[in-house]
Amino acid sequence: MKKLFFITLICFLLSCKKEIQKPEINVIPQPLKIEYTQSEFKINKKTTILYDQSDKEFEKVASYLHNELLRTLNLDLRKSDIKNHSKRNSILLVKKNSNKLGSEGYELHVIKKNITISSNEANGSFYGVQTLLQLISNDTLNENIVYNTIVQGVKIYDIPRFQWRGMHLDVCRHFFDIDFVKKYIDVLAMHKMNTFHWHLTDDQGWRIEIKKYPKLPEKGAFRPQTMVGKNWEEFDNTPHFGFYTQEEIKEIVQYAADRFITIVPEIEMPGHSLAALAAYPEYGCTGGPYEVAKTWGVFDDVLCAGNDKTYEFIQDILTEVIQLFPGKYIHIGGDECPKAAWEKCSKCQKRMKVEYLKNEFELQSYFIRRIEKFLIANNKKLIGWDEILEGGLAPEATVMSWRGTEGGIHSAKMGHDVVMSPNSQCYFDHYQAEPLNEPLAIGGFTDLAEVYGYEPVPHELNEQESKHILGAQANVWTEYISKTEHLEYMVLPRLCALSEVVWSAKEYKNFDDFKIRLKTHILRLKEKEYNYRKLDF
Ligand code: ACM
Ligand code: ZN
Repeated sequence: MKKLFFITLICFLLSCKKEIQKPEINVIPQPLKIEYTQSEFKINKKTTILYDQSDKEFEKVASYLHNELLRTLNLDLRKSDIKNHSKRNSILLVKKNSNKLGSEGYELHVIKKNITISSNEANGSFYGVQTLLQLISNDTLNENIVYNTIVQGVKIYDIPRFQWRGMHLDVCRHFFDIDFVKKYIDVLAMHKMNTFHWHLTDDQGWRIEIKKYPKLPEKGAFRPQTMVGKNWEEFDNTPHFGFYTQEEIKEIVQYAADRFITIVPEIEMPGHSLAALAAYPEYGCTGGPYEVAKTWGVFDDVLCAGNDKTYEFIQDILTEVIQLFPGKYIHIGGDECPKAAWEKCSKCQKRMKVEYLKNEFELQSYFIRRIEKFLIANNKKLIGWDEILEGGLAPEATVMSWRGTEGGIHSAKMGHDVVMSPNSQCYFDHYQAEPLNEPLAIGGFTDLAEVYGYEPVPHELNEQESKHILGAQANVWTEYISKTEHLEYMVLPRLCALSEVVWSAKEYKNFDDFKIRLKTHILRLKEKEYNYRKLDF
């Protein structure tokens, strides 16, 4: 009996020695490879952040890290140049030239002597910093996150699966101020998302200052009242108003760039344009008058596609938009454009004759192609909702597939780039649980498992066609969301699941493992004062 005990004990000790117990580090999105080591690094007030101080992009990463460590550990670390400085007791942001890291990948090594984050570009370094911040916020106590200066020894190699990791926000149905937009960008950055699709114009509000057309914000950003709940007959008697000045837009663009997020502005055309028409009725088919919409849905009054002045109007607007947003994409909407007004409009009908367009769908295609030419001439790329396929796709257009995946599949097969955002899995305005106990939503049902299980590359595509799937994004339409707490509730924790869809390797995805990590991760959201749907597992 005694002998058996000793044999068992020796076997147990041997097994302990061989395998380092896997500590729980709970990173979201899940990195590609994590190796645990037995060492650990202790951050103290003498720890120095080292990087190439002549590199402005790495300077951004170093400053972000510095500020976060001050906020979370109350340590005001020194920043110094990486050349000629001892590497001991430091956090190094090393610029590399490595094939395996691409433009957004990073390696994070935590050893006793220091912490090294290596990357080819500052983007990768920023993602390494995000992972590091999750390593120091891994302890929990009484349902609260505890920041820890002791960092578990690890060797992480991480690289994103997709180049387009997007989140959208509709600020037209309800307006959200720049402080909230910054908070929204912060939570995207935390999840290594790199694209913020800002839906700036719609029937219910025009939200961006355009200097050449001052009535756009004056009139288009204002609606005297709004329908109540889902009752199309009842109104709240409360004016709703809001737009971003160009100075505020610049501030947000910079804020996002400092977090390696590109903003894709959306200027809707030719449909969803009532707010623009309320301000400038001469660009509609009938000449108006028009009103900023106070109900939701789709409206027959759209921009006149037969009038050359409409194109001048849109191009003037886009000229200002292009100057504000340095990213390569401009989203032109293109969805849900009824053709009723065009059918009755002599200018639109004449245009169809002169341009040999068979029907109003081809007229919409003519509209989009004309705008695409303008964007290309200004070094921008056009992206639009999948309705831009109807009547023929503009030659270089990128398609955002929202009415399911068919539009995306069709476009990729034609050699066009695609961003997947099917309403079945990527619409965060849908219910995420039984409606009875949830705040009002537009409908649908898209729970955490549904989002996590989403696979952006459709099996219908071969390897070559699949390369056109740039990635995926989730959309947050705000008809029924007027408060920031409600908006955060709709986004979190579904964004956490989406981040693994677009960042983590398909072969390692595991919903059960994700749920375990999420229990810690959700406390990080709580600590940052985000509202979120409580986990029910
Ligand atoms: C959309 O949801 N209408 C793009
Ligand atoms: Zn017309």
